[in-house]
Amino acid sequence: MGTEKNTVAGIEEIPITDLIRSAIDARKKAYAPYSNYMVGAAVLTNELRIYTGCNIENAAYTPSICAERTAVSKAVSEGKRKFKAIAVAGSPKGETISQYAYPCGVCRQVLREFTDPDSFFVIVAKSETDYKVYLLKELLPESFGPENLF
Ligand code: THU
Repeated sequence: MGTEKNTVAGIEEIPITDLIRSAIDARKKAYAPYSNYMVGAAVLTNELRIYTGCNIENAAYTPSICAERTAVSKAVSEGKRKFKAIAVAGSPKGETISQYAYPCGVCRQVLREFTDPDSFFVIVAKSETDYKVYLLKELLPESFGPENLF
């Protein structure tokens, strides 16, 4: 299960506060006129660089993209393919983030492509001090990944 404190092995090396702050800041850029659900994400590369993203909706609905995949797409398109952690902050429109926003199934699978599910951290945050930490393997158990194809 996830934990509300920094007790997951390996979490000490993750700049949690920076990552959450980046996600909360990115959420302000969300383009979500249809759902009014604003999401920000910040992914940490193995080189400790942070890439942010927000959800971007579309009038035709299906072209909409989640914040997590925006962040991953930005990083991968800049040549970064290895990630240590992601922070996600999502909540209905408004300044207060009232709930923990968990990555959707599609985003979990996209994260799986570029991470080790046994050591990749998913941080869902309401604020810099109110958050939960999971390993990807907890959110996507028995997953299918690139290794299966080789
Ligand atoms: N959304 C995300 O950005 N990330 C998720 O993991 C869950 C859902 C977005 C998609 C859509 O713009 C809005 O939240 C409502 O589903």
